[in-house]
Amino acid sequence: MHPFQCVLRARRCLRRGPLASVSWLLLRTCRAHSSVPSSACPSPQRQQEDGVWKDFSSRLATGPTFQDFLRSASVPPEQPSSSEVEDPPPYLTVDELLGRQRRVYLETYGCQMNVNDTEIAWSILQKSGYLRTSNLQEADVILLVTCSIREKAEQTIWNRLHQLKSLKSKRLRSRVPLRIGILGCMAERLKEEILNREKMVDILAGPDAYRDLPQLLAVAESGQQAANVLLSLDETYADVMPVQTSPSATSAFVSIMRGCDNMCSYCIVPFTRGRERSRPVASILEEVRKLSEQGLKEVTLLGQNVNSFRDNSEVQFNNAVSTNLSRGFSTNYKAKQGGLRFAHLLDQVSRIDPEMRIRFTSPHPKDFPDEVLQLIRERDNICKQIHLPAQSGSSRVLEAMRRGYSREAYVELIHHIRESIPGVSLSSDFIAGFCGETEEDHLQTVSLLREVQYNIGFLFAYSMRQKTRAYHRLKDDIPEEVKLRRLEELITVFREEATKANKSFVGCTQLVLVEGPSKRSAADLCGRNDGNLKVIFADAEMEDATDSRLRVRAQPGDYVLVKEMWQSLNSANPGSMGGVSLR
Ligand code: 5AD
Ligand code: SF4
Repeated sequence: MHPFQCVLRARRCLRRGPLASVSWLLLRTCRAHSSVPSSACPSPQRQQEDGVWKDFSSRLATGPTFQDFLRSASVPPEQPSSSEVEDPPPYLTVDELLGRQRRVYLETYGCQMNVNDTEIAWSILQKSGYLRTSNLQEADVILLVTCSIREKAEQTIWNRLHQLKSLKSKRLRSRVPLRIGILGCMAERLKEEILNREKMVDILAGPDAYRDLPQLLAVAESGQQAANVLLSLDETYADVMPVQTSPSATSAFVSIMRGCDNMCSYCIVPFTRGRERSRPVASILEEVRKLSEQGLKEVTLLGQNVNSFRDNSEVQFNNAVSTNLSRGFSTNYKAKQGGLRFAHLLDQVSRIDPEMRIRFTSPHPKDFPDEVLQLIRERDNICKQIHLPAQSGSSRVLEAMRRGYSREAYVELIHHIRESIPGVSLSSDFIAGFCGETEEDHLQTVSLLREVQYNIGFLFAYSMRQKTRAYHRLKDDIPEEVKLRRLEELITVFREEATKANKSFVGCTQLVLVEGPSKRSAADLCGRNDGNLKVIFADAEMEDATDSRLRVRAQPGDYVLVKEMWQSLNSANPGSMGGVSLR
């Protein structure tokens, strides 16, 4: 990173509000300028025994100043106690950064990006010597990876914090104090408000600050609150290999880009996750190769706008070639040029292992050039499934949402995708009751659901978020009961249409990737077809595809041909199918 970027960040740190008791930790790149030898401080365990925490606090008070960041690049010799541990900032020792076998309990809320972020956070803590536990009672550190997209998501976290408060207060004195942390979008959105409101929260780490978790926890050891909610222009955690949490997992998420530049008027994401940036292609391919070697059978490429991927890290590709948008679509930002684009990445990723299914989410409809559609059509292992978030069926509302397309352009894209990829499975997101949405606008959304017949849908009532354009410029004028009534209507229509759409699979033979036993019955297995529909079928002996004389039972990670699919009746989920395994 360029040194001036480091300085700028330091300035932002120093300007942050009056947080007397909070240690705003500074970024990793800045730490190398420390002149305090790491061996100068005794270990905190020693300190704890001696009961002299005040020394630690005074070191914090005399922590890094702006000058620390301006010093020349001469780095003093370091004496790390472990090669895995990061360089400490001037106010911490290497020893204090170690997890010392503390047990971490991680809880994830929200989207798949958060699932992946949890694995990244864990990977960083594991390297620092922390242990993982799935037992809350056993935990020394509880970290919640949070979501801010709607008010309800945040309310869930506040409720959880109240439960954790009682756990913390009942903690036996003989144990190390329990530390609680808020990670991700809610930390970023609310910052010190969380620390002030919930005094029991010890650390805050925004989505770009997970590398600082060991430092934040080390500061929290002293009983101080610690936070880093700085957003970055370039953090992609490219070098952090997420730790697969379930050893029997058949699929994994691979984060390929972070952040969002679209600024849809209702959405908090650009404020909580920052600017769009892509991970270098080479590091993505390396991760996918490793997952293939581990025997995983499916990867989902992840990003807030996954198909807006643009790797600018290799100079020779930073030409003036302008971006091909889907026909009739525009952006809220100045046109971007050059870089390695999503079609290139998808091509490379799908070549790694023909047995490995490739999915991607969540895309933006504006970035579906023909190269991407052709590739999905041609490559057997790229799933014929596209998420195409529409948000509304009314052009008037789409304009107020600043989505960059009209209903007509969206419908034209749907037709084009269906022509390009026969049998493609489609899903979408919709928001009911956005600012100024009339009954007529709502009916337009109903009619879009009928017209497209999505296979899978995600529908939400509008929730006004501070900081967004809608918060500043529009009125949240649809009463709650009207939003909920419209949402119910959308859900009903979506289910009716999805049931019709998914009928096309009935009686067909589908290739299903087995995930494991069905939740409903131990006698059944559960997997997903290419279109990402859940398929339940009997766990019976079947013919081995490689040797018809052999009878085998399907295991997680096996591909199974399921014939005579049927729709599960009375299911609230029209995306769930039944079937009989063939082989
Ligand atoms: N209110 C309701 N739904 C929202 N979404 C994003 N912001 C809001 C909001 N303020 C929905 C959009 C998006 C999905 C991830 O969440 O449909 O595609
Ligand atoms: Fe939010 Fe729009 Fe960005 Fe999606 S594209 S994350 S809805 S701002």
